[in-house]
Amino acid sequence: MLGLKVLAMAVVLSLACSSVTAAVSYDGKSIVINGRRKILVSGSIHYPRSTPEMWPELIQKAKDGGLDVIQTYVFWNGHEPSPGNYNFEGRYDLVKFIKVVQRAGLYVHLRIGPYVCAEWNFGGFPVWLKYVPGMEFRTDNQPFKVAMQRFVEKIVSLMKSENLFEPQGGPIIMSQIENEYGPVEWEIGAPGKAYTAWAAKMAVGTDTGVPWIMCKQETAPDPIIDTCNGFYCEGFRPNKPDKPKMWTEAWTGWYTQFGGPPPRRPAEDLAFAVARFVQNNGSFFNYYMYHGGTNFDRSAGRFVATSYDYDAPIDEYGLLNEPKWGHLRDLHKAIKQCEPALVSSNPAVAWPGKNQEVHVFETKSGRCAAFLSNYDPNSSTKLTFRNVEYDLPPWSISILPDCKTAVYNTATVQSKSSSAKMVPVIDRLNWQSYGEETPSADDRDTLVMEGLWEQINVTRDSSDYLWYLTDVNVGSGEGFLKNGQLPTLTVMSAGHALHVFVNGKLSGTEYGSLDNPKLTFNGGVNLKPGINKISLLSVSVGLANVGTHYERWNTGVLGPVTLKGLDEGTRDLTKQRWSYKAGLKGESLNLDAPRRSTSVEWTEGSLLAQKQPLTWYKTTFNAPDGNDPLALDMISMGKGEVWINGQSIGRHWPGYIAKGSCGECNYAGTFNEKKCQTGCGQPSQRWYHVPRAWLKPSGNVLVVFEEWGGDPSKISVVKRTF
Ligand code: GAL
Repeated sequence: MLGLKVLAMAVVLSLACSSVTAAVSYDGKSIVINGRRKILVSGSIHYPRSTPEMWPELIQKAKDGGLDVIQTYVFWNGHEPSPGNYNFEGRYDLVKFIKVVQRAGLYVHLRIGPYVCAEWNFGGFPVWLKYVPGMEFRTDNQPFKVAMQRFVEKIVSLMKSENLFEPQGGPIIMSQIENEYGPVEWEIGAPGKAYTAWAAKMAVGTDTGVPWIMCKQETAPDPIIDTCNGFYCEGFRPNKPDKPKMWTEAWTGWYTQFGGPPPRRPAEDLAFAVARFVQNNGSFFNYYMYHGGTNFDRSAGRFVATSYDYDAPIDEYGLLNEPKWGHLRDLHKAIKQCEPALVSSNPAVAWPGKNQEVHVFETKSGRCAAFLSNYDPNSSTKLTFRNVEYDLPPWSISILPDCKTAVYNTATVQSKSSSAKMVPVIDRLNWQSYGEETPSADDRDTLVMEGLWEQINVTRDSSDYLWYLTDVNVGSGEGFLKNGQLPTLTVMSAGHALHVFVNGKLSGTEYGSLDNPKLTFNGGVNLKPGINKISLLSVSVGLANVGTHYERWNTGVLGPVTLKGLDEGTRDLTKQRWSYKAGLKGESLNLDAPRRSTSVEWTEGSLLAQKQPLTWYKTTFNAPDGNDPLALDMISMGKGEVWINGQSIGRHWPGYIAKGSCGECNYAGTFNEKKCQTGCGQPSQRWYHVPRAWLKPSGNVLVVFEEWGGDPSKISVVKRTF
């Protein structure tokens, strides 16, 4: 006989629904929908990270995988590109997305934020917001609160006008205000506390009729539910006993950064983490991401790769990532079989042996569900429960929906692995090229200013590119070799990448990384007597999306910029006159958008630019037959951006994975994103998703802007297939 010890759980178990008028409420056990407690299985799918044509199938696959809820953020900068001008079209058609979910019979958890983090450019905030006078993000700041409230109310009233909240007959059962504000509040203190109180009151005041949550924020004021985000959340407790234990982000993998490996999280460990959460009274869990998708356009956050695959159960292209998808589906089936016991009892917990744990949910009406755990990461164990012996593999949990039969074990994978491959379908494309000009300080359309200016302040993020242009006058003989040495140009930049041209010739390239975006160029430069043209092309790779007051972080060449080794010694160029040119010439000629572009002279055949920096490439191709998802193999190229029929499919950059960042991928034992990293020496991202919906049967225009120099003849269109 096991000595079962009932844990004193601070959970209110009375079916408190009698006092409830709203269709959706909660108690200490779970979210309550129309009077019924629910164990809810949820998954994140962010609507702009796929195309509307993909949504129905993605959501059907989520439903088939056993999901009840689709969770998404709302992306402010996509919806309000300039103040007061709203966009709810195409990939930003939020209402349509929610209605697709509704049609599939699933619920929605709407994370309005409007701060989202999400590896999304500027954390979801429009760049113009930063330039509203007096603005400070995410604190007790009047301009910020006014703008935030306006956007939140805009979204809530849009949802209400379409009857999308549950009490109106819609699918939205929950919303979220802010995102992981706890750590910021802790850091900034009093203004943070005041802001939290304000945000909570403002959100509740919108009167949606469904609960609000704040994730990773212990201080969430009532009636807002504080929730957990992480790789594991079993130990989490909400800040009041009458709030349910919810996990808003169960990380299915992790995002890829340029220069880093695509992280993997084994299905066994994810299933283990979820089962462990549920046996500890968790009643809502959301996979972040269930389908990660693609950071199209320039929507990715700083140094975040274009692929947002995330090792999610549905891969970037919308195909099942097996065995993860199937193993979780089986887990959800087992949990649902336990639901009647889970929602109406608290677990009795026992420790029958070393590294063994038993959780039993038993109701007066005779329902019983048990979870048997083995926490030993290396050895399997035999666990005796109610006189029956159960075999448990290392680091695993078995689920017994009737307290007798183990229908599922988190480490025993029944689903087969998928082996999706990238198969070339078009590998001979006829390319044309056009050389982007290197501007110089005396060009007409430049902005002249004293000293060095912050990049985003000048571009307002209308382009990744900003030219910093200046002249250096040297006396005769000065620029030549001195004691066998060329003068040294040093350029310090706040990031993120830099191409240095002297008299129109590329002298070198430097780039930072997610961990250290700053960079320094240091190189010998060949100067001639008289005027020399220094042209620095500073490139941003997405704006920061996380960190206290990340809106204050700088981008671009802020100096010092110096020239050493002249007769006079070191010349400081930092404070002299600089000319600025935002964006590329090709961008202003709309070379990326064939329908609007100005005609320029493209060259081809033997004149095609090969391995030349700053080159535009163009070709056309017909849509490959079939329905397999498509991608471009960009392995032969350097860094830049790619467009299909005028729509950006994102930045390309193989960003080779540094040696030494790879580790063993073993499912057993506590996981973190630094584990399971493979592919050292390989590109971070080789393939770039081309949505089928963006293609016409023939004559599709593919445009590539290449910064470093690549070989376009090796670009191929591939299909993803099993
Ligand atoms: C969380 C954040 C998410 C996402 C995630 C990492 O902390 O809430 O938006 O950034 O980290 O993918």
